Amino acid sequence: HRGLIAASALNRVDLELIFDSARAHLTRNRTEDKKHPSLKGLTVINLFFEASTRTLASFEIAAKRLGADVVNFSAGNASLKKGETLADTANTLAAMQPDLLVVRHQSPGAADFFQRTTGISTINAGDGANEHPTQALLDLFTLSEHLGDVGGKRIAIVGDILHSRVARSNVALLSLMNADIRLCGPASLLPADADRWGASVFHSVEAAIEGCDAVMVLRLQRERMSSGLIPSAREYAAIYGLDHARLSLANQDCIVMHPGPMNRGIEITSALADDKGVSVILDQVEAGVAVRMAVLELLAGRGMQEMMP
Ligand code: CP
Repeated sequence: HRGLIAASALNRVDLELIFDSARAHLTRNRTEDKKHPSLKGLTVINLFFEASTRTLASFEIAAKRLGADVVNFSAGNASLKKGETLADTANTLAAMQPDLLVVRHQSPGAADFFQRTTGISTINAGDGANEHPTQALLDLFTLSEHLGDVGGKRIAIVGDILHSRVARSNVALLSLMNADIRLCGPASLLPADADRWGASVFHSVEAAIEGCDAVMVLRLQRERMSSGLIPSAREYAAIYGLDHARLSLANQDCIVMHPGPMNRGIEITSALADDKGVSVILDQVEAGVAVRMAVLELLAGRGMQEMMP
């Protein structure tokens, strides 16, 4: 692969390569000897045209742990505000000879556009409601750490599926691994073609959760909704919010995931989000750094595999 634009472009061999490397990084990241300078001499530009806490911080930490030089570039200060086109922005940055780009943008196709315009390996850090491949990778990595092989495991994704790039990328990888995928949300927040995603579709959260091994909870993405579609927070919490009572319908060892940012008291109760017995939300964040280190190394041609004779 030249870049990582879509989870749907990955195969099982790619996942094995990424996860083997991520496991080694995860172990090293827990020690004081975190540096592994395989990207020494390379420059990574993180271009974020939308807000981010987890993705931006973890890409920056990942690239720095690998010894790369990192430039963070955010939309607020960009010359796009002065009328520069996205293509001129891309070509301007490419002329500075970076080796990898990480792009988050509100428009589907933006990361692909940067890669095609510049010819530089690009990682999609979220393009509108389309894809967020490294989120799906860190989610699948976390699922595998807790459940083992996810083949045949029942996994529900509950919430605003319509506007969720996280749901799209997760369904791509979970389908590849033959998981039993359930999508659940109000009809207005489910895509019209949800029945063709290779998942079962539910409107009742109780029915969706029954017998699950994992539940992924999603935030209502109000910033992507037209005003007519927005359910009230109180109504949504009452009908779809995940709490301990609803979770009791799942398998006994069911884990709870959330890509963040969370809206506590709406899609998930604080008591459940903070219940270390079931919530693996911070494990997802930790895995995010290791998985992104693996992806950066592999795309730079400096992964463990490439080092072998
Ligand atoms: N999960 C995720 O993408 O979080 P951020 O928007 O904080 O990066």
